[in-house]
Amino acid sequence: MDPEALGREYDKIANHWQEPFLQTNGLAQFEKAIRFAKNRGPALDIGCGSSGRFIDLLSKVGFTPEGLDVSQKMIALARQRHPQIQFYEADISKWTFPKKYDFISAWDSTWHLPLELQEPVLQKICDGLADHGIFIFTTGGLDGPHEKSDSAMGIEVGFGVLGIPKTLELLDRFGCVCRHLEYDQYPEKHLYVVAHQYPEKHLYVVAQKRPDPVAVVELRGRHPWRAPRVRGRGKQGRRWGTPIIGLRSRG
Ligand SMILES: C[S@@+](CC[C@H](N)C(=O)[O-])C[C@H]1O[C@@H](n2cnc3c(N)ncnc32)[C@H](O)[C@@H]1O
Repeated sequence: MDPEALGREYDKIANHWQEPFLQTNGLAQFEKAIRFAKNRGPALDIGCGSSGRFIDLLSKVGFTPEGLDVSQKMIALARQRHPQIQFYEADISKWTFPKKYDFISAWDSTWHLPLELQEPVLQKICDGLADHGIFIFTTGGLDGPHEKSDSAMGIEVGFGVLGIPKTLELLDRFGCVCRHLEYDQYPEKHLYVVAHQYPEKHLYVVAQKRPDPVAVVELRGRHPWRAPRVRGRGKQGRRWGTPIIGLRSRG
């Protein structure tokens, strides 16, 4: 199911997310994630819905939160509740990050993306984190990739799940370390993950093979000892591999 169609489905039940019994859902998990945050600047709640409870919590502890949702009705209700907050009506898979964030959340939201969008969106979000930024998100606690649609909420929604091994592999590749992973509604498969953007993982290799210019290659999540040679293509198209002559960190 494409995200815009999903947004139109959520328009039909946007009021439901303002009901009192939902107002504590996820707060304890957010508090756990916030403890890992080193800096409390900009924060982004992806698929924020209409309740505003995460916006309230993030404001209370010193972040400057913003919200994003693909449902027009959710955003309209969220703006009514928090007129002073910046909200974006957008699909996260098409949205361009305007800045880096110290904290990003995607609580029961990005799991609705189709399977083929899961990896690029995870990469986009990890890239949108500032150094030492924290990302909390929910997914299905499965062992492998899976896609399904469901109408248990009274609307038709899709789910795309990468599975735990692939999710952890991608977080590592995108420069993040997993700090917490929990089945918080066990035996349900609801899983939440806290990831930390770890700047030391963004090492760049500097290598040179004369007469080609110096090559600077980012080792996204790869430690230099796992990539002791840089490979490239010379002017005549000949492949070469050359030892690392220096390392540089992100930025
Ligand atoms: C189950 S509701 C959760 C709302 C909120 N996170 C909460 O816990 O109260 C899922 C929300 O994610 C939003 N959403 C799903 N896919 C999205 C996408 N691709 N981009 C932005 N928002 C999305 C939906 O519109 C909906 O408001």
